[in-house]
Amino acid sequence: MSMANFFPLKFLLSLFLLVWTATPSSVSGDRKTYIIHMDKSAMPAPFSTHHDWYISTLSSLSSSSSDGVAPTHLYTYTHVMDGFSAVLSQAHLDQIRNIPGHLDAYPDTIGHLHTTRTPKFLGLKKRAGIWPAAGFGNDIIIGVIDSGIWPESESFKDDNMPPVPARWRGMCEVGTEFNTSHCNKKLIGARSFSKGLKQRGFNISKTDDYDSPRDFYGHGTHTSSTAAGSRVQHADYFGYAEGTAVGVAPMARIAMYKPLFFHETDLKSAAADVLAGMDQAIEDGVDVMSLSLGFPETVFDGNPIAIGAFAALKKGIFVSCSAGNSGPGAYTILNGAPWITTIGAGTIDRDYAAHITLGDNELTVTGRSVYPENLFVSHVPIYFGYGNQSEKLCAPHSLDPKDVAGKYIFCAFDYDGLVGFAQQLKEIFRTGAAGAILSSDMGKFLDPTDFNMPYVTINPKDGELVKNYMMNVKNATVSIKFQITVLGTKPAPQVAFFSSRGPALQSPYILKPDILAPGVDILASWVPNRDVQPIRDQYLLSNYALISGTSMSCPHVAGIAALLKAVHRDWSSAAIRSAMMTTAYLYDNDNGIITNMETGAAGTPLDFGAGHVNPNKAMDPGLVYDIEVEDYINYLCGLNYTGSQIRVLTGTSNFTCEHANLDLNYPSFIVILNNTNSTSFIFKRVLTNVADGSSTYRAMVNAPEGMKVVVQPATISFAGKYSKAEFNMTVSISLGTNAIPHDDYIGNFGFLSWYEINGKHMVRSPIVSAFAP
Ligand SMILES: *[C@@H]1O[C@H](CO)[C@@H](O)[C@H](O)[C@H]1NC(C)=O
Ligand SMILES: *[C@@H]1O[C@H](CO)[C@@H](O)[C@H](O)[C@H]1NC(C)=O
Ligand SMILES: *[C@@H]1O[C@H](CO)[C@@H](O)[C@H](O)[C@H]1NC(C)=O
Ligand SMILES: *[C@@H]1O[C@H](CO)[C@@H](O)[C@H](O)[C@H]1NC(C)=O
Ligand SMILES: *[C@@H]1O[C@H](CO)[C@@H](O)[C@H](O)[C@H]1NC(C)=O
Ligand SMILES: *[C@@H]1O[C@H](CO)[C@@H](O)[C@H](O)[C@H]1NC(C)=O
Ligand SMILES: *[C@@H]1O[C@H](CO)[C@@H](O)[C@H](O)[C@H]1NC(C)=O
Ligand SMILES: *[C@@H]1O[C@H](CO)[C@@H](O)[C@H](O)[C@H]1NC(C)=O
Ligand SMILES: *[C@@H]1O[C@H](CO)[C@@H](O)[C@H](O)[C@H]1NC(C)=O
Repeated sequence: MSMANFFPLKFLLSLFLLVWTATPSSVSGDRKTYIIHMDKSAMPAPFSTHHDWYISTLSSLSSSSSDGVAPTHLYTYTHVMDGFSAVLSQAHLDQIRNIPGHLDAYPDTIGHLHTTRTPKFLGLKKRAGIWPAAGFGNDIIIGVIDSGIWPESESFKDDNMPPVPARWRGMCEVGTEFNTSHCNKKLIGARSFSKGLKQRGFNISKTDDYDSPRDFYGHGTHTSSTAAGSRVQHADYFGYAEGTAVGVAPMARIAMYKPLFFHETDLKSAAADVLAGMDQAIEDGVDVMSLSLGFPETVFDGNPIAIGAFAALKKGIFVSCSAGNSGPGAYTILNGAPWITTIGAGTIDRDYAAHITLGDNELTVTGRSVYPENLFVSHVPIYFGYGNQSEKLCAPHSLDPKDVAGKYIFCAFDYDGLVGFAQQLKEIFRTGAAGAILSSDMGKFLDPTDFNMPYVTINPKDGELVKNYMMNVKNATVSIKFQITVLGTKPAPQVAFFSSRGPALQSPYILKPDILAPGVDILASWVPNRDVQPIRDQYLLSNYALISGTSMSCPHVAGIAALLKAVHRDWSSAAIRSAMMTTAYLYDNDNGIITNMETGAAGTPLDFGAGHVNPNKAMDPGLVYDIEVEDYINYLCGLNYTGSQIRVLTGTSNFTCEHANLDLNYPSFIVILNNTNSTSFIFKRVLTNVADGSSTYRAMVNAPEGMKVVVQPATISFAGKYSKAEFNMTVSISLGTNAIPHDDYIGNFGFLSWYEINGKHMVRSPIVSAFAP
């Protein structure tokens, strides 16, 4: 496939997948929203709560302000950090910076978004494995930080659910078209956070979004139902993907925290609101948090999700985040902090098709289409230019509407990549043709919503057959059957072209993404009030939508974490992540290493992390690589974060950097080559036995040419459950003098696997090299 062809299309698609945001600002003068970190121990004695202290501090500023506009308090934060957010002038900010107890202040930033067959694809079964073992996620509460929820969706029915866990402290908020009676035993909490956006001049009225937890856009309804939706029979997307829709943890509870609002063309969120949502989720008592959004990847103490996730970590809350949709280039990861589980997106083994018959059964081929009408085209004339190359390619303005009106057009494959696929589609649309057959290998990159007219893409090999037929037959006709769902497609999974790739720019010494989960054409619940698909001059609505993005892979892992928590109440977030990573699989259903969708070539751990998540196996990993809160602090020390940065990020000042260490006890290994052809690194790791009884494991190493790996000791023993053992692993990279730095360093990979002797466990970690950013 030619890259010239690929990139324009990718751009076209990314409009649906990735929502970057502008920053409108109607806040007057130099007033801006700031997030202010405070040291609570400096609170003067008269105040009984830190909230009172902040309010009093702000009102004392207003009396001494020169511009006469009082500061506006937005939120007080208790869990994600000690501090508050407020709208301040520069003069106010300067005064706050001099108050005893002030630690840090930075301006609010804007975040962006990163969408069933998947339970079956994940191997989840009603009567065996993790589903019954976990009671389907019973009593686990998943906090989803997203665009709200459509509470009437069948996916949020609470039939047969036991009472809400007594420990739950959350509630359902009253707002536009939302009140407490919209919650039930499935949807147990719903709140919205918009003060930060409103300060930026966003008018959240019913015309744009609901000023309440109700979802206007559909994104939050989709992610929530993916993580923990109830079973719904006969769900489909305009006849495609028909079947029973069910979330990954169908008995888990959902609490929605909405800081994402639709405005003008896309969803937007302010850091101040995201922090407030995460703060509330911690206060309410969620067990797992799912965040399908991201902020620009800055130092971690300037990133609201990294800050909120650190606070969650301290409370034992598992945090799953999307890796971003900025792939396939290296160093495009978002949410790459090591205390976050960072999820890439993979395809599943399902596709959407149309059957094409030429003439009277003279030639039949199957192509790709997600055209949303139950159309049966029968013996319609099909047009293939008049011997003119640019017509055959459906080049811009090459077709005469008179020739093609009411007909199907066949557009040939463009080997030279002169006419982009998106241009071909535009030309077909312009001429008013009835539909089209496009010979192209770009079809797999199309989003369902791109099928806004009845066309089918066929691969260029079939395209040659159609072309030969067309050349030999006068007045050819075509018949097409749309709305076909194909299961078991190969190869699957593949790494989605848009999925952000490692290493992580802010901390390249930890491999990211962590793991791959389904994120392409995922069917889940949607809002029924907003069009999902424009067709000619109509708009179509659907209760279910097929959406793609790392936004969709993230809630799959949140659901799996809920299942693992239900089975192993005592596991830390690091243990849960380790269990998922060391049991992930590397081979697709065609028995090859998982490939990259855009090239078809084998992927590397920089594309898929430890591999594709495998929930049944993750339930019983044998050993885990565990991490304590102070290990992360030592890692931040190793990154040379200052004492005050670490304090702002972790909310503690009780630490030293005596044990600064970039070698976190992580279940994967990455060696960064910084402008050299060879290097050597010694990793030190500790394994914890989480299986019953004693056991012995032997190390097996799989290393590519140019990478030498020595494990000491090569055999380790565990006395019983929770006993620990240490090992060292020396990785030496020597790429030879002919190495081309970027190409040969990036993604050269092997594996360390611990095999249980006389046992069934295998604990595998990727070892990968990459060049420095
Ligand atoms: C909540 O809203 C529904 C309609 O959406 C209404 O029927 C119900 O009475 C309301 N409940 C309360 C407590 O206001
Ligand atoms: C917000 O929009 C609504 C509806 O368009 C309008 O009535 C209202 O005046 C607007 N409010 C502000 C503060 O602009
Ligand atoms: C070939 O295409 C061009 C436009 O690209 C058009 O001007 C010309 O008339 C076409 N020739 C024939 C023979 O149809
Ligand atoms: C093709 O169609 C045209 C116009 O409908 C007609 O004049 C012509 O005879 C047809 N040719 C054949 C071979 O059927
Ligand atoms: C941290 O600082 C030390 C001392 O200046 C330096 O050797 C080391 O490379 C730095 N680490 C990173 C990750 O930049
Ligand atoms: C500070 O950390 C040390 C070592 O981790 C711990 O023993 C001590 O209790 C901590 N002190 C406070 C006030 O938390
Ligand atoms: C790992 O290596 C260090 C020296 O680099 C050594 O002191 C330690 O004993 C080794 N540990 C194991 C488990 O081999
Ligand atoms: C690696 O070796 C090649 C060949 O000797 C040399 O051209 C290149 O500069 C080396 N790369 C680095 C980063 O040292
Ligand atoms: C690579 O080396 C340069 C110069 O020695 C240093 O500034 C940089 O921090 C290093 N990068 C990494 C990722 O270690």
